[in-house]
Amino acid sequence: MPLLEDTVGVEDLILLEPLDQESMLKNLQLRFENKEIYTYIGNVVVSVNPYQQLSIYGPEFIAKYRDYTFYELKPHIYALANVAYQSLKDRDRDQCILITGESGAGKTEASKLVMSYVAAVCGKGEQVNSVKEQLLQSNPVLEAFGNAKTIRNNNSSRFGKYMDIEFDFKGSPLGGVITNYLLEKSRVVKQLKGERNFHIFYQLLAGADAQLLRALKLDRETSHYSYLNQEVSRVDGMDDVSNFKAVQNAMTVIGFSEEEIRQVLEVTALVLKLGNVELADEFQANGTPASGIRDGQGVQEIGELVGLNSEELERALCSRTRETAKEKVVTALSVIQAQYALDALAKNIYSRLFNWIVNRINESIKVGTGEKKKVMGVLDIYGFEILQDNSFEQFVINYCNEKLQQVFIELTLKEEQEEYKREGIPWTKVDYFDNSIICNLIEHNQRGILAMLDEECLRPGVVSDSTFLAKLNQLFSKHEHYESKVTQNAQHQYDHTMGLSCFRICHYAGKVTYNVTSFIDKNNDLLFRDLSQAMWKAKHPLLRSLFPEGDPKQASLKRPPTAGSQFKGSVSTLMKNLYAKNPNYIRCIKPNDQQQRGLFSSELVATQARYLGLLENIRVRRAGYAHRQRYGTFLERYRMLSRSTWPRWTQGEQEGVKKIMEEMNVASGELAYGKTKIFIRSPKTLFYLEEQRRLKIQQLATLIQKMYRGWRCRTHYQQMRKSQILISAWFRGNMQKKLYGKIRASTLLIQAFVRGWKARKNYRKYFRSGAALTVANFIYKSLAQKFLLGLKNTLPSHKVLDKTWPTAPYKYFNTANQELRQLFHQWKCKKFLDQLSPKQVEVLKEKLCASELFKGKKASYPQSVPIQFRGDYIGLQGNPKLQKLKGGEEGPVLMAEIVKKVNRGNGKTSSRILLLTKGHVILTDTKKSQTKTVIGLDSVTEVSVTSFRDGLFSLHLSEISSVGSKGDFLLISEHVIELLTKMYRAVLDATQRQLPVTVTEKFSVKFKDGSMAVKVIQNPGGGGDGKLSCKKKGGHSLEVTV
Ligand SMILES: Nc1ncnc2c1ncn2[C@@H]1O[C@H](COP(=O)(O)OP(=O)(O)O)[C@@H](O)[C@H]1O
Ligand SMILES: [Mg+2]
Repeated sequence: MPLLEDTVGVEDLILLEPLDQESMLKNLQLRFENKEIYTYIGNVVVSVNPYQQLSIYGPEFIAKYRDYTFYELKPHIYALANVAYQSLKDRDRDQCILITGESGAGKTEASKLVMSYVAAVCGKGEQVNSVKEQLLQSNPVLEAFGNAKTIRNNNSSRFGKYMDIEFDFKGSPLGGVITNYLLEKSRVVKQLKGERNFHIFYQLLAGADAQLLRALKLDRETSHYSYLNQEVSRVDGMDDVSNFKAVQNAMTVIGFSEEEIRQVLEVTALVLKLGNVELADEFQANGTPASGIRDGQGVQEIGELVGLNSEELERALCSRTRETAKEKVVTALSVIQAQYALDALAKNIYSRLFNWIVNRINESIKVGTGEKKKVMGVLDIYGFEILQDNSFEQFVINYCNEKLQQVFIELTLKEEQEEYKREGIPWTKVDYFDNSIICNLIEHNQRGILAMLDEECLRPGVVSDSTFLAKLNQLFSKHEHYESKVTQNAQHQYDHTMGLSCFRICHYAGKVTYNVTSFIDKNNDLLFRDLSQAMWKAKHPLLRSLFPEGDPKQASLKRPPTAGSQFKGSVSTLMKNLYAKNPNYIRCIKPNDQQQRGLFSSELVATQARYLGLLENIRVRRAGYAHRQRYGTFLERYRMLSRSTWPRWTQGEQEGVKKIMEEMNVASGELAYGKTKIFIRSPKTLFYLEEQRRLKIQQLATLIQKMYRGWRCRTHYQQMRKSQILISAWFRGNMQKKLYGKIRASTLLIQAFVRGWKARKNYRKYFRSGAALTVANFIYKSLAQKFLLGLKNTLPSHKVLDKTWPTAPYKYFNTANQELRQLFHQWKCKKFLDQLSPKQVEVLKEKLCASELFKGKKASYPQSVPIQFRGDYIGLQGNPKLQKLKGGEEGPVLMAEIVKKVNRGNGKTSSRILLLTKGHVILTDTKKSQTKTVIGLDSVTEVSVTSFRDGLFSLHLSEISSVGSKGDFLLISEHVIELLTKMYRAVLDATQRQLPVTVTEKFSVKFKDGSMAVKVIQNPGGGGDGKLSCKKKGGHSLEVTV
């Protein structure tokens, strides 16, 4: 408690020591004198009216109380409003703020403080602000029309008001509903000494500008209006002019249209003007008294003001039509009766106007039904009143206060104590006064005063206030809270304050004597049908709408409910409403009757404290527990305070609560565990728990936030990742697709080109450009054809030796022509060969062999070619002698001729017969035919010839041969070509050896006694004749000249 140091007395009366009436009063007085007007009893605020402006209100204070908990700052209405509002917001409980106290104790002011606090702390925003403004601005309007100066209070509420402010789940105001209770309408026509009529009349006259006044047919002078009390027209500290502006402004803010405001003022003016209608005695023809309007001007003006026929109005005012089932009877009213009707009309118009205004405000501030809302009700009802002369109004007002006291008793004293018992909490009973007996006395359905009053009103026969009183006296003669002259007399009491027409009720707040006069009338609250019908006929839309029953079609003969039963009904609704909400009390106390600052009348305060039951309240509170809650809800609210109960608790609720409290180290004296609820003794403990909860929730919120952020980031990341993968997949896919498309396109292009190229190639020939080639080919072909066909006809002869061949007609046929010529020649040769006999073939083979051996080498070769090889040049065939030379050798003689043998010794030649067989060369002397030399062909190794025309040749023999020892032979033959050819072939046949035939000019010949070099020289002159000469030069050299 930061302000503990400068505390005056005790701030919470629970801490009071000693606890008695005196010290309580002293404490209140001490605090009052130190301008500490608020004191707690637990969570109840006791407020003592300071009758002066204190600087403890306004935005800074609101801000302060908003941030601190209940017990941290000085007691204040703001603190209570804060608790109520927070509880509404946090705990989702509808709240009501019950403001009670006598008239002038400060209830209306307190209610305004509550509203301004709530308006300041609840949500912000354009919409919210306009709702707030409308709610706040309803006050000045209702005060102007429903408040008046009384002797007790310059601004006394003359109606009960209960306002439900509705909030959304965030605690922002949505709108509200105002319920009003029974306006003290008698004030419209009559006020007590020192009191005023409702403020609006004075405000209108003082505040309206001249133009408006003229339009309303009014003048500024209050004294000109008989409904306005003549002595008091002004109230100290109240500026009617500026208030009028404020009211008009407030109506605009609430949403009244200009037209509506004008109509409201017109009806207000109408009431004032009705008061000025003067009635005059008249007499009917039969002498019965009647009445009439004295001054037609006023009625005329009224008629003009609200669009009413003045004559009709006069008729309605001065006569009465009684309708029965059969007939309609019109009776004239006496002046007194007419005056009564006039006043009734004025009162009715005004109170209906007031109801209309409340409804109109409700229309503006009402909330759509769909929304789920939380409600804070603020009840500011007229306070308990004890006047000099108390009438029906006071009776009703006090009944209402009695009921409120009952709520208080029920909820704070009775119910609380009963709860302790129920919950099994040890408890010593605190006695208190239970006022339900008084409530019963008034409201009992069959036997209550209100029921009796209704009964009297409805009863046929002669009914009067005194019959009503008689009935009460009879019924309640033994009732301890009821007194009257009759009951007093019965008990032989003498009481000069008790009038004959009075009864007294011992209210909780004191004894009040009521005068029954006009109880019946006021309860009936009847308005002659002539008047309501007249009003309904008015052209003024607002006035007309105030009297729906004036519509003849709507006319019903049923009585409207009486004022008393209506009031009882609405009080009972109110009670139900209050019981359904969490109550918060502000108990207002009036320090003195003089509305004076600084004056503290202990006596007066003591009475109020007594009947308010403050002391009992303190006692119960002190012994009891400030706070209780079901285990379930408690656990739900505080389970985050313990690790074992958070986040889940599976065992019993009570165990869970105990666990939390153990962990929170709450002193055991602070707690009591009931059967279903936990009880916490001091609010401090609760605030401590709340604070811990707040801290914990912050931590949890951070945790949740952390988890949420993490989760959000994670999912975001995952989403991004997924998206990225998706995008890249698509991108890659797209790339590949594009690439594929490109490749495909390229392939197609290449394909197309290739196909095109191929096609073009194939088709080129069909093209004009290919024609040349085709033509050229064709020409070429036809030329070739022509050439070949031509050739067929001009072929040369088939003779082999005919080498002629036609030349090609064109150069480019040359190669082909040459080939053809070759072919033709070969073909001719083949043909020629095919026709040859084997013998001829053999001859040709020999010739061929000779050609291979000597062609181009030996000069004598060409001569040998055309000559046939005869082989036998010595006539061997027919000569057996010669045949013998052959010896026994098988086979034919291949060659037989005469050759010359060069003698190795001298170089001289000698003839020899040479036979060549298949295996041998046989040389025989021509004369001595016995001597012969046989040389095996296998021993002939080489043959040497010259390149000249001569027939010289040398047979080189191998040394191992039989004749070899004699050496080589140097021979001369005339048919050297034929001989050597045949020898070559014979060697080849016999030994498969190619006999080397060497064409040379120098060769060496081996002899027995050594070798000899032979050199052949051509004789320059000679040649061809075959003659040669050999000259031996030295031992080893031989020169042959040919
Ligand atoms: N808290 C307060 N501060 C200053 N004056 C107050 C306060 N409460 C009441 N008053 C004075 O007392 C008068 C009567 O208060 P009001 O609330 O109208 O009484 P009630 O509604 O209980 O009849 C007010 O007009 C005002 O002058
Ligand atoms: Mg009031």
